[in-house]
Amino acid sequence: MPAVILGKPTMKAFLNSFAIGAAIPGAELNEAERRLLFANFNTVTPENCMKPASLHPAEGRFDFAKADALVEMAHANGLTVNGHALLWHNRCPDWFFTDDGQQAGRELVLQRMRAHIAAVAGHFAGKVQSWDVVNEAIDDKDEYLRKSKWLTSIGEDFIAEAFIAAQKADPKAELYYNDYKIEQQPKRDKALRLIRDLKQRGAPIHGIGIQGHWKLNQIPFKDIENAILAFHSEGMQVAITELDIDIVRRKTDGAEVGVSEQASADLYAKGLPDDVQQRLADQYAQLFALFLKHQDKITRVTFWGLHDGRSWLNYWPFKRTNHALLWDRALQAKPALLAVLALTREETDKNAKPPAGGDGKPVPQL
Ligand code: XIL
Repeated sequence: MPAVILGKPTMKAFLNSFAIGAAIPGAELNEAERRLLFANFNTVTPENCMKPASLHPAEGRFDFAKADALVEMAHANGLTVNGHALLWHNRCPDWFFTDDGQQAGRELVLQRMRAHIAAVAGHFAGKVQSWDVVNEAIDDKDEYLRKSKWLTSIGEDFIAEAFIAAQKADPKAELYYNDYKIEQQPKRDKALRLIRDLKQRGAPIHGIGIQGHWKLNQIPFKDIENAILAFHSEGMQVAITELDIDIVRRKTDGAEVGVSEQASADLYAKGLPDDVQQRLADQYAQLFALFLKHQDKITRVTFWGLHDGRSWLNYWPFKRTNHALLWDRALQAKPALLAVLALTREETDKNAKPPAGGDGKPVPQL
């Protein structure tokens, strides 16, 4: 049965199929936002406060307060937490890579990386369900791996080393590799290569996070399906970790936070025209139909933000008024929410046993 709050179904109706999450900044949500979160979701991802720059601003100096408050709020209200992210090339302080003003050597950076993961994954051990261990390490263009400071300082094995360190610090956490556009070529093949590389090096990887920062009218449905199948056939759990649908045209594909674009007219500052609103609803419904079809392979679907007013797409890659999620700025349900929830009713009907009619045939509904 879909979860019902005051007679209305909520996103928890999907919990028979997979976990449903939202990224949140921290515990500092207002009352209405808390109600929306607790009624609709069973898991959260910290949007920024578990990234290295937030938790570990200087060597050996940790600041866990904000992330601890988030974890506490989540647990007090029955939500699990997905840690994001142990290693990333963005939001990562430079001290990891320097030694007395010079570039630090492999051994020092490796030792710092291990110490970071031991401290952070150790601190949250038993408190987070999963970790995005490495975020966005695959190159967008011709190379296999992104030329990040992690790669140039340590070498290709930094990813395997990160997974090994994460498992040591928190043996029960599910360990994910997370990236954008890995559902599409050429990154999908590189992600498959990475999975095999990690296995070969004995690194414990359990799942792949497909971020899912897609654009209206350009959602690569077929690629998404193929990627889910391909990652699953490598033995991986699949999670959609950062779902949103960008409404306002931008040049940049994917989600490279390092790029910015020249601002253009703020097309939808006053709201979405009905036809665009409807297209958003249709495309969200199509996505969720696909996720339901592959629910045996998908562990979780997490939105990157709680409502339109809390979406990073309002300021990346340029400042604009975006409408990427299922609730608007006033926390009102959008047609997209209703379209997605309608699928759960069909799903419930499909799973319901036909009423006994003596001959085993379903009884016609009057
Ligand atoms: C974004 C946050 O939403 C922003 O607030 C921050 O300024 C930059 O990072 N891929 C990821 C996320 O893995 O961590 C990014 O989050 C969005 C793209």
